[in-house]
Amino acid sequence: MLSKKMEKALNKQVNAEFYAAYLYLAISADFSRKSLNGMADWYHKQAQEEVEHAMKFYNHIQERQGVVILEPIAAVPSEWATPMSAFKAALVHEQKVTGMINALMDIAVGEKDYASQSFLKWFIDEQVEEESEATANIDRLTMLGGKDGKSISGGSLYQLDKLMGKRSGE
Ligand code: FEO
Repeated sequence: MLSKKMEKALNKQVNAEFYAAYLYLAISADFSRKSLNGMADWYHKQAQEEVEHAMKFYNHIQERQGVVILEPIAAVPSEWATPMSAFKAALVHEQKVTGMINALMDIAVGEKDYASQSFLKWFIDEQVEEESEATANIDRLTMLGGKDGKSISGGSLYQLDKLMGKRSGE
């Protein structure tokens, strides 16, 4: 049985994961409109992963006889001025999620909720990967187009788009 404090924090996490799915879908749609189809595909796959993350939390609440509370999901922007600004928005959200997962683990440890600790371990590891991938996108664009990515040539942008389109659907 979950404590009320843990139940509330887990429900907040369900919302944050669905928000991430919204954010990545919006980024995907924006890239798609700009014919950056590889980047659009990368973020579309990322959005699907986020729905899976949300459902893992949803299922954990259910399995522990908690109450799932689905709060409204905040609106996300529909356009980013540059690919770099979209990549950075993704990293900022992943860093926020990492903080939230760490805070959840603190609650689980404090309450001796061993089942939640075991469940959260996967997310602790996953966030290392999530932040690393978000950072890699920024690094590649920086290499090709400078600090804000703006001086990227059309040819390099095309190559980067093609590379990101090769992401497998993990
Ligand atoms: Fe569900 Fe990208 O963290």
